[in-house]
Amino acid sequence: MKPARPRSRAALTLKLMNYRHAYHAGNFADVLKHLVLTLVIEHMKQKPAPFRVIDTHAGTGLYDLTSVEALKTGEWLSGIGLIRAEPFSPEVAEILAPYLDCVQSENPGEALVRYPGSPLIARRLLRENDVLVANELHLEDHAELASLFARDVQTKVLHLDGWTALKSLLPPKERRGVILVDPPFEEAGELDRLVTGLKDVQRRFATGTVILWYPIKAPRALDRFYAAIAALGLDKILVTELFIRDPIDTSLLNGTGLVIFNPPYTLAGKLRTVLPAITTRFTSDPGAFYVLDKNCPPARP
Ligand SMILES: C[S@@+](CC[C@H](N)C(=O)[O-])C[C@H]1O[C@@H](n2cnc3c(N)ncnc32)[C@H](O)[C@@H]1O
Repeated sequence: MKPARPRSRAALTLKLMNYRHAYHAGNFADVLKHLVLTLVIEHMKQKPAPFRVIDTHAGTGLYDLTSVEALKTGEWLSGIGLIRAEPFSPEVAEILAPYLDCVQSENPGEALVRYPGSPLIARRLLRENDVLVANELHLEDHAELASLFARDVQTKVLHLDGWTALKSLLPPKERRGVILVDPPFEEAGELDRLVTGLKDVQRRFATGTVILWYPIKAPRALDRFYAAIAALGLDKILVTELFIRDPIDTSLLNGTGLVIFNPPYTLAGKLRTVLPAITTRFTSDPGAFYVLDKNCPPARP
């Protein structure tokens, strides 16, 4: 009998792919992630030299909030739904504006019926010489993404394993760039892969800005991740997290986190203004809080 052929990790991932972002688009975690993405991209635009955005786990790019999937969870209602429900103070509104403008451009009327994913948000913000590379491994999601950008010469859509893409696409020829790494966390070891991914990026493209996303159910489960990030010895790190409740029931998505490598120098100040406002907008739960720190592990209130 022939020995079984070893399967590549990408092949195994393809087999495992159950995660569909359509169930979660526009939830509180998307709001924080997409807000940070817009702030980073807007900062890149302050210099005239072109840059590239690389989205390693891009999803479909656009989500119908009236779809069966979105209606089943209703997650967007307690995310972008709340953010759009009432105005914020002028100070906060100014920081949220590029993000909310991207959302609004998919919703010409009053009602919120569509939500742009990270590649579409990035694309909306690019200037004519900037480039987007959006990668998605799920066959159907990749097909939707490819069709969304079919006639767009500034966007390249790829169908690769995101972790492979992270290595093969760097450094970008513009030597300026933003990399979003937003895996679905349906496989064990995604936190370890985030750390290895960051190490890879840092080695190939030390000046790039990297945004790593992670979900928070049990905060203790992040201890090893924080220690591994700290062990990389990178001095330009910003960690932000938002908890919508005290993380007592660790089967729930209690919080969302981002590690940002080479953050724009303005980012911490903007998040310090906006985080209290969006946290209280998401929930009045007394256990809710946010975190903003240049260290790993970040200090919690
Ligand atoms: C959290 S979703 C992405 C959401 C998107 N970044 C956004 O913010 O709108 C993660 C995506 O990664 C895709 N995916 C899963 N494993 C992957 C892999 N190994 N390489 C690339 N994409 C993958 C999933 O199909 C899913 O669409």
